[in-house]
Amino acid sequence: PQGASHYYLRSQIEKLQFREYLIDTWYSLPYPEEYARHKVLYTCEFCLKYMSLPQGFFRHQAKSCNFGNNHPPGVEIYRDPVLRIAFWEVDGRKNIEYCQSLCLLAKLFLNSKTLYYDVEPFVFYVLTEIDEQDSSTYHFVGYFSKEKLNNSDYNVSCILTLPIYQRKGYGSLMIDFSYLLSRREFKYGTPEKPLSDLGLVSYRNYWKIAVAQTLRRLHDDFLSHGMALASLTLENIAQLTGMKPSDVVFALEQLDALLKHKQTGSYAISLNLDLIDAVIAKWELRNYVQLNPEHLLWKPLI
Ligand code: ACO
Repeated sequence: PQGASHYYLRSQIEKLQFREYLIDTWYSLPYPEEYARHKVLYTCEFCLKYMSLPQGFFRHQAKSCNFGNNHPPGVEIYRDPVLRIAFWEVDGRKNIEYCQSLCLLAKLFLNSKTLYYDVEPFVFYVLTEIDEQDSSTYHFVGYFSKEKLNNSDYNVSCILTLPIYQRKGYGSLMIDFSYLLSRREFKYGTPEKPLSDLGLVSYRNYWKIAVAQTLRRLHDDFLSHGMALASLTLENIAQLTGMKPSDVVFALEQLDALLKHKQTGSYAISLNLDLIDAVIAKWELRNYVQLNPEHLLWKPLI
């Protein structure tokens, strides 16, 4: 890693300079000594190289970042030219230094995850905004990582939206994207535990909305064919959303859609359409950026 031969200190870093933003960091972490002694860490949004001095940073921004046409390394696998967002797939084995810097960046805002340097078993999905003026410049928004080979259902190992982009729906967009990949792999997915507090509220919010939208769509489709939804199962919803069945159960509970049979104690799915519509309407009012599966150009790695 950048500066791997140095001692690592619990850092004094209080702020992150990223683009033209000075961002308060949330947690301290062991950056190499020469960086950890400074209060501000300067990071290039394209190559994620970190620097301790402003002169070096501004010189780097002005001329020496030849990293790859102002975008993350790896392959662009999703591009929405209208909403101006793109996802990049970055292999931890091929872009070790970039992925290590990404993990360190996440640690500034995340207390629990311990991954810094062992990035090779992971693939990283980086979300970027396409610059308004220059369509070949991509601004780093956030990312999630995913283990390449795993026997569990985990489809996200670690997820981060940079604080300057938070509460704009980008976290939900990345979560939605992670489930889209799982569906393309014909798998169920769930995030790796433990979740941070922010991870938990974001996922719970996503699960509820994703299941509400799925139930509404199913209801309308069945109705248009003059059929009732009597045969709907938990597995159907899990397959349609890519969500692990236990997470679907959580969402159904939130939507007041689980009915316990008094005699047998077994559960049935019962749609409370008013609640479902209210949840969907509240979410749509946010007008957050939506995923369009048709823009995904991707096949599972293995
Ligand atoms: N307070 C309350 N609710 C929140 C908050 C918050 N700070 N952040 C997200 N939510 C909930 C809300 O319901 C929100 O909807 P709303 O804005 O309509 O109220 C919903 O989640 C969606 O929020 P997004 O804008 O889509 O999420 P965001 O882009 O802010 O990213 C994330 C969420 C990734 C968790 C971000 O907060 C973050 O990077 N945190 C630091 C790192 C972290 O904790 N990552 C998760 C670790 S767990 C894991 O990696 C598997």
